[in-house]
Amino acid sequence: MPKSKGIETATVYLPMECAKKIKHMVLQESNRQIIDEFLIIQGMKEKFLEADVSIPNKIVMFGPPGTGKTLTAFYLAHKLNLPLIVVRLDAIIHSHLGETASNIRKIFEFAKAATCVLFLDEFDAIARARDAIDEVKEMARVVNTLLQCLDEFQGDSTFIAATNLEEELDNAVWRRFDTRMTYDLPGLAELKQFLINLLGESESSLQVIEQSTPILRGCSFADIEQIILKAKRKVIIEDSEMSYEKIADAYKAYNPKAQQGDFKMSSRTSGNEEGQLVWN
Ligand SMILES: Nc1ncnc2c1ncn2[C@@H]1O[C@H](COP(=O)(O)OP(=O)(O)OP(=O)(O)O)[C@@H](O)[C@H]1O
Ligand SMILES: [Mg+2]
Repeated sequence: MPKSKGIETATVYLPMECAKKIKHMVLQESNRQIIDEFLIIQGMKEKFLEADVSIPNKIVMFGPPGTGKTLTAFYLAHKLNLPLIVVRLDAIIHSHLGETASNIRKIFEFAKAATCVLFLDEFDAIARARDAIDEVKEMARVVNTLLQCLDEFQGDSTFIAATNLEEELDNAVWRRFDTRMTYDLPGLAELKQFLINLLGESESSLQVIEQSTPILRGCSFADIEQIILKAKRKVIIEDSEMSYEKIADAYKAYNPKAQQGDFKMSSRTSGNEEGQLVWN
């Protein structure tokens, strides 16, 4: 793994480690369809090559924090039985922008040499609109390097970029992606499914879930997970049963609304009926 500033520029997760992370994952139906199709295509590459139809290998994910973008990268690596390489943005971004560009190149070269899923979180940090940072001429070079790397990205590896900023990203960058996914806070069905995954499906659990659903609406998956974890700890400490009251107390203590950023979907983006990101 290439290093920068003395630290590794990425963390590697083996497929087995990836499998552990996704135990409770709930994928929105639209995103499940996209991922399923992506996986089907990876399984029939020869046919695509024969027909001279390009095989998708670049995914971009957009959506608020704690909705499963990183989790989906783990899922994909697990399904493809490939290592997941999570790039550490703090390590590749350098005060010398020339150094940043060179780090980006090294990471992509690494992914070319060894088949993997390469995941870049907070993608907006390096893919910001070139116009917006034109005064920093050098930054355009970083974006250009990124574009070049995306164009040259071939072979069996998959590149995934995720972002939750509504800030404008460079259109030239967006165009490079063949698969686009939009993430959102859990809807009612997803919320219930997630609670079942966390609390089980016994009659008493289902009752607690039914009671707790209203207060958890509007929370991200990550918030819900923390609230349920808090409630579960109380159950152990007090040697008692899970109840609506425990979840309500945990909700108050965790206070998710206070922690939520004011994420809004950009007025320039919306989801189409397949849940894919659309630029208006
Ligand atoms: N769809 C989901 N299903 C199950 N658990 C989820 C889901 N989304 C998030 N979580 C839980 O929240 C934690 C954070 O999720 P994840 O890292 O995937 O969010 P993210 O969308 O990448 O957020 P960020 O934008 O902050 O990087 C995960 O470890 C997982 O436990
Ligand atoms: Mg993430």
